[in-house]
Amino acid sequence: MTDSPRKLTSTSPSNGVHADQWSIRPYPSNLASDVVTGPGVLLHLRPIRSQDAALLVRFHEGLSPDSVYRRYFSVHPHLSDSEVRHLTQVDYVDRFAFVVETGDTLVAVGRFDRIPETTEAEVAFIVADEYQHQGVGLLLLDHLADEAWSLGITTFTAETQADNRSMMGVFEASGFAVNARFDEEVITARFSIQPTDESRASRGRRTVRVEGARRARSDGA
Ligand SMILES: CC(C)(COP(=O)(O)OP(=O)(O)OC[C@H]1O[C@@H](n2cnc3c(N)ncnc32)[C@H](O)[C@@H]1OP(=O)(O)O)[C@@H](O)C(=O)NCCC(=O)NCCS
Repeated sequence: MTDSPRKLTSTSPSNGVHADQWSIRPYPSNLASDVVTGPGVLLHLRPIRSQDAALLVRFHEGLSPDSVYRRYFSVHPHLSDSEVRHLTQVDYVDRFAFVVETGDTLVAVGRFDRIPETTEAEVAFIVADEYQHQGVGLLLLDHLADEAWSLGITTFTAETQADNRSMMGVFEASGFAVNARFDEEVITARFSIQPTDESRASRGRRTVRVEGARRARSDGA
């Protein structure tokens, strides 16, 4: 990660970088990496791709109603075809998503969508119920912030239900300085994703754990 946003394409009036006719970004396969959960399970993280449609549908249909409600603010057991297209077809510049998988099963998705013509993006996360509370949300935030920063995004915002302690816990554990605004049942969190000593330290500890999990897997193989 660099200390200043990298300009990929032409600069918008608001000094952001955005997808335009000259900047069709190919699938960024270099962003794939192994990650490890709190209990030490090694998973794989990679940018989403349009071929993930069937995997995403299966992932969504395996979520609990509560998790779906917390993500979509509505009872939404099935994704429509157009939602699946919207969620899986991204430009990797203004719209970006990482999936976390084990084998051919998705266990989490985290994404950001740039607010048009700004350097802010809205983030959203969903982790399979059986993988929640194991550090996956925080790992996703690390990787999303890294990538967004490199694309000229400086600030993340997220709307979450006021009692969603896990989501706010992820933001607070990231090492970024989170500003939270309460409006009845909803919290709007907003924070700079400029790397800080604290965010670097928090991330460094997790990198060390990935190496340990990789070694444990190869020792046991
Ligand atoms: C909210 C959600 C994405 C969080 O993902 P997660 O993988 O469960 O979160 P993590 O395990 O990384 O971190 C959250 C927890 O760890 C704590 N935490 C994580 N890393 C930590 C660290 N290094 N230090 C201190 N606390 C830490 C958080 O406070 C929080 O506590 P909890 O698990 O006891 O609630 C997930 O629970 C989810 O998908 N929920 C349903 C959908 C949703 O709510 N989406 C958010 C709206 S966009």
